[in-house]
Amino acid sequence: AQNEKESLYIVLDFANKYYQDQLWKSPEGQSIGQSYFKERGFNHTTIQRFELGYSPDGWDAFTKHAIKNGFSIDILEKAGLSIVKEGKGPIDRFRGRVIFPIHNVGGKPIAFGARILKKDPNAPKYLNSPETAVYHKSYIVYGIQQAKNPIRVEDNCYLVEGYTDVVSLSQSGVENVVASSGTSLTKEQIQLIRRFTNNITVLYDGDAAGIKASLRGIDIILEEGLNVKAVVFPDGDDPDSFIQKVGSQAFKEYVQRTQKDFIRFKTEISLKDVGHDPIKRAEVIKELVETISKIPDSIKRSVFYQEVANLMGIEEQILITEGNKISLKKV
Ligand code: GTP
Ligand code: MN
Ligand code: MN
Ligand code: MN
Ligand code: MN
Repeated sequence: AQNEKESLYIVLDFANKYYQDQLWKSPEGQSIGQSYFKERGFNHTTIQRFELGYSPDGWDAFTKHAIKNGFSIDILEKAGLSIVKEGKGPIDRFRGRVIFPIHNVGGKPIAFGARILKKDPNAPKYLNSPETAVYHKSYIVYGIQQAKNPIRVEDNCYLVEGYTDVVSLSQSGVENVVASSGTSLTKEQIQLIRRFTNNITVLYDGDAAGIKASLRGIDIILEEGLNVKAVVFPDGDDPDSFIQKVGSQAFKEYVQRTQKDFIRFKTEISLKDVGHDPIKRAEVIKELVETISKIPDSIKRSVFYQEVANLMGIEEQILITEGNKISLKKV
């Protein structure tokens, strides 16, 4: 119902202000929260631009404060801010964590990501809001509120994995950046980005999981008709750690120098463990054809078939025939 959504926006905005107040004004937030962000290299302007906050380390500080301000337990629970268990008082979902609010395109806070301060094998590194009437995680990308104009101006969107990658890049002047926030990319997320540009550069973490996720993401981006490039970071680095290490100038140069169109990216990654094995080579070719067959635009498709033909030394017509078979199977 429209009314319930309105109430959720109001309580989420209230929570967003509360977490920021805690960070800036409470002794606990000042000492623990602010020093965490400082250690990560985030300056005041950046913290304020992304409305980062702090949730106190107690059971129900926020919930109590919200109830005192007239919010019902019901709405707090529906917003994902409080947790209610049978026979117990409601408690805060986020406790003793730094807070990354997630905004919709219009700029309203709709959810939160909350990071633990110290490594703890028994607790998740990030806690996120659950799905609610206003938050559908597969429809949103983190940072879109701050990034949408820069994306339009640059006519390109950098896609990263994590909250801190967005914040860090943005602080270094790379503002056209959003995060899929660890979930596997969806077509709805791409459709959201497509409102601002047709070009995406995937900057996932430089580990096996990141590369695998890049390969999967590329297919989804192509299916939605966008152009896609990808960058691989040195193993163990993500965009945040890399830019903090080398600085923004060297970061930009690295991206410019190593970004590859998706065909080269896929080919090089797949060929790494193929060597001269002809059967494996054939498998790689089939996968490339499968990816290309997903591109809606026929002219682009034919350009990429040409490229694979050159890269793999194979007759272009064979690729086109195979690709057409795949496309026809789908309809
Ligand atoms: P930092 O360690 O703070 O630099 O975060 P990161 O973004 O580099 O984390 P990582 O590469 O491990 O994960 C990428 C993204 O996946 C995060 O930003 C989160 O959105 C999400 N994520 C990571 N760990 C968890 C988790 O334990 N639970 C949930 N729900 N999401 C997670
Ligand atoms: Mn809905
Ligand atoms: Mn990772
Ligand atoms: Mn990181
Ligand atoms: Mn990471």
